[in-house]
Amino acid sequence: MAKDFSTMEASNGSDNTDIHSVSPTARRQLLRGGLASAVAGLLSPLAVQGGALTALLSGCASTGVRAPLLGFKSVALGEVDAVRVPEGYLTQVIAPWGDPIGVAGAQPAFKPDASNSAADQAVQMGMHHDGMAYFPLDGSRRGLLCMNHEYADHGLLFSDGGKDWTPEKVAKSQAAHGFSVIEIEQNAESQWAVVRPSRFARRVTANTPCQVNGPAAGHPLMRTAHDPSGRRVLGTLSNCAASRTPWGSFLSGEENFIGYFRGPNRPNAHEQRWGLRAGEQWGYRWVEHDERFDAAAHPNEPHRFGWIVELDPSDPQAAPVKRTAMGRAAHEGATVALCKDGRAVVYSGEDARFEYIYKFVSRDAMQPGGPKANAELLDHGTLYVARFDADGRGRWLPLVHGQGPLTAANGFADQGEVLIKTRQASDLLGATKMDRPEWIAVDPQGHVYCTLTNNSQRGAPGRPGVDAANPRANNVGGHIIRWKEEGDFHAERFSWSHFVLAGDPQAERTEARGQMKGDAFACPDGLFADARGVLWIQTDMSSADMGPGVEFLKKDPSAGALGPKELVKLGNNMMLAADPGTGEVRRFLVGPVGAEITGCDITPDGRTMFVNIQHPGETPGDLSDPAHPMAFSSWPSPAGGRPRSATVVIRKQDGGLIGT
Ligand code: FEO
Ligand code: CA
Ligand code: CA
Repeated sequence: MAKDFSTMEASNGSDNTDIHSVSPTARRQLLRGGLASAVAGLLSPLAVQGGALTALLSGCASTGVRAPLLGFKSVALGEVDAVRVPEGYLTQVIAPWGDPIGVAGAQPAFKPDASNSAADQAVQMGMHHDGMAYFPLDGSRRGLLCMNHEYADHGLLFSDGGKDWTPEKVAKSQAAHGFSVIEIEQNAESQWAVVRPSRFARRVTANTPCQVNGPAAGHPLMRTAHDPSGRRVLGTLSNCAASRTPWGSFLSGEENFIGYFRGPNRPNAHEQRWGLRAGEQWGYRWVEHDERFDAAAHPNEPHRFGWIVELDPSDPQAAPVKRTAMGRAAHEGATVALCKDGRAVVYSGEDARFEYIYKFVSRDAMQPGGPKANAELLDHGTLYVARFDADGRGRWLPLVHGQGPLTAANGFADQGEVLIKTRQASDLLGATKMDRPEWIAVDPQGHVYCTLTNNSQRGAPGRPGVDAANPRANNVGGHIIRWKEEGDFHAERFSWSHFVLAGDPQAERTEARGQMKGDAFACPDGLFADARGVLWIQTDMSSADMGPGVEFLKKDPSAGALGPKELVKLGNNMMLAADPGTGEVRRFLVGPVGAEITGCDITPDGRTMFVNIQHPGETPGDLSDPAHPMAFSSWPSPAGGRPRSATVVIRKQDGGLIGT
């Protein structure tokens, strides 16, 4: 997200930093020697996207000749209000905010003056498209697109902006959140369109009944006046990154949920650790007409958010399930890899300053038969939090009640409480405080990558200083860290390196940039590893606490030495393609003005890419403030129209593989 909710929260005051004293010589740029040779045996075809590419790829592997992964010409930086892709590529826009999703008998058209009702919005595309996954129904020609709608811009959502809140406005904002499931199809001219009506079309909103599963289900800390069982929550919120599981479900992280709650007048230590502020919420005014979001009246309601949510997109009747075994956090998203024995490993970052990276290892193996056959796979297993050591190795620390400090004496009555208070448990274990962990991707070689988008508070007075894994004070440009498990994905030890330290011109000339070369970027956020091994990096520079004085490279580092006069902002947000094998990075897409580039997926044949454009035209400031300026983009509406988040479909003119 761009609006800086996540940086408003920096509530980790624990002092578990000392073990990571920085040593410049310990900054590791490449994976430890010998690991590459260990990779081959770990490859799980289901851990990567798509199966149809396997034959194409195996041809390269058997000859030992590696074709270049990237074949397109870089897109220039820019600040125009359009989506630009390389020569030879085509784009089309589908499913903008407000378009009917295709529920039979309920397809209200989008009204350009935003006068659609809450009931309309509940059957239209939500606002602020984010993480997304394609689920084939008929291979690469017809499928379901399932996506998150992370938050809402009330200045755009309502005809009269964000003033004078009413129950109807709260209901419309709540209906603009959650997920959309739409059926899409490619016609004979290779154009994609939403199928309407479709029996799969579905919205999940902030009021959709969700089931709670796993060790915290029914826990006393999960029970509320509305739900004495602690097993039935209304809605999912702040859904940011997403992925498709190998068994065919959609996984979504509930990220900045805390911003929707008004804090009690005197937040206790637990509430403070989760960012609740005395009598305040972060600009959302739902609480004025929906007291469920008053944490003073309903102190357990915030415990019912911050989970990883699983949805079976093929069953419109299935309740979304909050999977508590994977811990409560400001989960950016969740990404699954499979062990050779079929166990699922779920990686997840928590996007807030100085928070953590998690891994869950399922107890049981995935079963054939899709989501229904794996309905409890993510309910049993072990959750770990990451510690990155200065010697380039790391350890997954188990978040298991009764082990180490996670005892009743330290405030954890049972495993349910460990999971509800995952942050505090991680503090006690000495996990490494990261620079806002965003998306995580696993490439076909089994490397795991995590974007650390930025952290301008690193090294600030009273805040944690640099450590080996987060080596830059005032880290406004962000970095990408990667690791390889020492064994299969379930291993408790790993080796890590910096894939790239982004954006800082000083880093270009030091060892700290890692092995990457090519186009400059800053604030990596979205991340997607495709079946060919290309790592797609999406930027969110809008949320960096950069200020007017902080500037980044305009020229590519490969262009030679750069003087201070050549440092300017990088323009609109972008998506880049990286070849981890060669270190090459090329700019593939530049987005409209004020937009962030978010979700990404590619059809199994590798020939159609879906990319989400979030919040075109967003201006800094409080979106709920009636004085907040209107947007300065109209993408993809006609000139002067309301900007709308939407999905961009990208194909090659010659029908070739995306990225070549
Ligand atoms: Fe929703 Fe951390 O971006
Ligand atoms: Ca994000
Ligand atoms: Ca972000």
